[in-house]
Amino acid sequence: MSLASGPGPGWLLFSFGMGLVSGSKCPHNCLCQTQEVICTGNQFTAYPPDIPLNTRRLYLDNNRITYLPAMNLGLLSDLVYLDCKKNLIREVMDYTFIGVFKLIYLDLSFNNLTFISPYSFSVLSNLVHLNISNNPHLLYLHKYTFANTSSLRYLDLRNTGLRLLGHDDFHHLVTLRTLYLSGNPWNCNCSFLDFTIYLIVSHLDHPDDLNATCVEPTELSGWPITRVGNPLRYMCITHLDRQDYIFLLLIGFCIFAAGTVAAWLTGVCAVLYEDARRKSDEDETEDEMGQRLDVSQQILQSRNESAHDGFPQLI
Ligand SMILES: *[C@@H]1O[C@H](CO)[C@@H](O)[C@H](O)[C@H]1NC(C)=O
Ligand SMILES: *[C@@H]1O[C@H](CO)[C@@H](O)[C@H](O)[C@H]1NC(C)=O
Ligand SMILES: *[C@@H]1O[C@H](CO)[C@@H](O)[C@H](O)[C@H]1NC(C)=O
Ligand SMILES: *[C@@H]1O[C@H](CO)[C@@H](O)[C@H](O)[C@H]1NC(C)=O
Ligand SMILES: *[C@@H]1O[C@H](CO)[C@@H](O)[C@H](O)[C@H]1NC(C)=O
Repeated sequence: MSLASGPGPGWLLFSFGMGLVSGSKCPHNCLCQTQEVICTGNQFTAYPPDIPLNTRRLYLDNNRITYLPAMNLGLLSDLVYLDCKKNLIREVMDYTFIGVFKLIYLDLSFNNLTFISPYSFSVLSNLVHLNISNNPHLLYLHKYTFANTSSLRYLDLRNTGLRLLGHDDFHHLVTLRTLYLSGNPWNCNCSFLDFTIYLIVSHLDHPDDLNATCVEPTELSGWPITRVGNPLRYMCITHLDRQDYIFLLLIGFCIFAAGTVAAWLTGVCAVLYEDARRKSDEDETEDEMGQRLDVSQQILQSRNESAHDGFPQLI
């Protein structure tokens, strides 16, 4: 440790010659200067062991590292500068940077990131410069990803697979000055509205703003996302989209169907009622008819009888 903290050029040669035998540590094929370790372009497939614990600047760029081990990285509690560009890192987990909370500069560009877990950067409250550009398989950022990186000034999100960002994602980045957003397949639908409004009101620097354009929907494709806020607001707030029309159509159909059913039920009730009334009417008239018949029969009978009585009299 004492050797590693202040090595001169002679010591470097010594350590290359002796390897790790002497106990002074520098990763094989790396260059260790005052609190600086340079392992650039070594075809490393894994994080190198034996990095001096007092390292402040670590260059791991242009290797084939797939994974950053939190345990080893966490030993470097003085680390302020970490360059991991051009590796094959796939994921950044919640605990990956938990021990390197002094980090100011982090470059993860040109990797194969597919996933950045929501609290990965949550301890990096001193981080000023974050570069996650050129990770084409990175499709999604959680809304808490930048919740605690409140010192961030430069954020590079160029050439990823990101299609959408929310305003909430950037809510805590009060010191952000420069934001790169070009080369992403931005989907400028109504979910993007809040973010585009944020781009208008936040007055950030967008050095690549004319190249950060919408890919979808077709009617906005090619529009710079820094200018799409107002048309989007018009489209999303005053206009109905297809789903709304379908919804309205469904409601209309429901009302129509309910009306039809109600009319049918009313019709059925009316018919039943009419039927019932007609039946009771018929019963009554039948009764009346019967009575009338009786009466007329009686009258006839009595007439007949009287006629019968009188006939012989006439003859
Ligand atoms: C990068 O990640 C993708 C998706 O996980 C994978 O299909 C691809 O093989 C990876 N590329 C390399 C070079 O590891
Ligand atoms: C964010 O930072 C604050 C103070 O720096 C800390 O107390 C809090 O736990 C952090 N949040 C997360 C999710 O780590
Ligand atoms: C991020 O990394 C890319 C590629 O390594 C580089 O071209 C770009 O300048 C970096 N961005 C910033 C803001 O330094
Ligand atoms: C907008 O596009 C994104 C990504 O393509 C999608 O997840 C989201 O559901 C869409 N939002 C709307 C309102 O269509
Ligand atoms: C925009 O893209 C074009 C073509 O890809 C490139 O030549 C130009 O330098 C880019 N401009 C900025 C500001 O990134």
